[in-house]
Amino acid sequence: MTFDQTRWVWRNGEIIPWSEANTHVSAHALHYGSGVFEGMRCYETPDGPAVFCLDAHLERLYNSASVYGIEIPYTRAELADAICDCIQRNEFNSCYVRPLCYYGSSTLGLHPAKCPVEVVVLTWPWAAYLGAASLERGVRVTISPWLKFHSQMMPTTAKACGQYVNSILAVRDAVSRGFDEALLLDTEGHLAEGSGENLFIVRNRKLLTNDERHSILLGITRQVVMQIANELGYPVETGALRPDDLLGADEAFFTGTAAEVTPICEVDGVPIKSGRRGPVTRRIQENFFAATGGRDPRYRHWLHPVRQPVMSA
Ligand SMILES: Cc1ncc(COP(=O)(O)O)c(C=O)c1O
Repeated sequence: MTFDQTRWVWRNGEIIPWSEANTHVSAHALHYGSGVFEGMRCYETPDGPAVFCLDAHLERLYNSASVYGIEIPYTRAELADAICDCIQRNEFNSCYVRPLCYYGSSTLGLHPAKCPVEVVVLTWPWAAYLGAASLERGVRVTISPWLKFHSQMMPTTAKACGQYVNSILAVRDAVSRGFDEALLLDTEGHLAEGSGENLFIVRNRKLLTNDERHSILLGITRQVVMQIANELGYPVETGALRPDDLLGADEAFFTGTAAEVTPICEVDGVPIKSGRRGPVTRRIQENFFAATGGRDPRYRHWLHPVRQPVMSA
């Protein structure tokens, strides 16, 4: 992943060159992680580039901001336009999209009282998050020694900058021990989620996943996959998942905007069933990419065109 191709950034209402999109070292968020963000993807479709689930991501951004008392000085429509502008100015057909709202510089007291709210949108091309081969071959995960924090410690359903140091610790540990990704348990020993992904298990052609009672971020891809699975006739059950459920699963996969739908082939060196992507995961993936690529009319409403079609007179 590089930022080489990004030339423009949207900041506080205007598009500025990448080289000018700097922030001061006294920014509150730099010291304490006091910001909220989103991760979205823009996909190439037959009708041009389109942002997948833009409304749902903006909804979560404003909810995360409200939990932290961050007042975003733009409407959702203005931010949606900002995102589209930024993609267009950079001339991307597909890219990752990162809106970020954070407390800037005024005080370094913990209460960010007078800090201005800064809003930026970054865009850059980002291929398969867990590596080019991961979508087909799957990833090798380890159960992390770091637990996912409980929702009474931090609001797990909010996507806030500082909360991600928990994920960073987990993924660094996993990679240092030769794994692709970490799987975190909650404080009660149930499976929570990956460092940046939700978890699904497949058993007897049924999908099992957990929910906010297990300290997860309620993923938008998770919701999309639940709907796709239902329409494919796979029942989806939500409840607590134990490490044993994963080891005894027929298939397992991660979901996330960055990771999309990524099979999990191995847990701490133990293969899940055949250790290969299973048939249910493959069907879910095919349907997911048909939706993101604008090739399935049932799911067109999930795509927000970057270039609004010009109305003919
Ligand atoms: C901790 C965590 N869980 C789950 C997800 C998946 O969420 P989404 O599908 O909305 O990208 C993400 C990614 O944003 C994440 O960071």
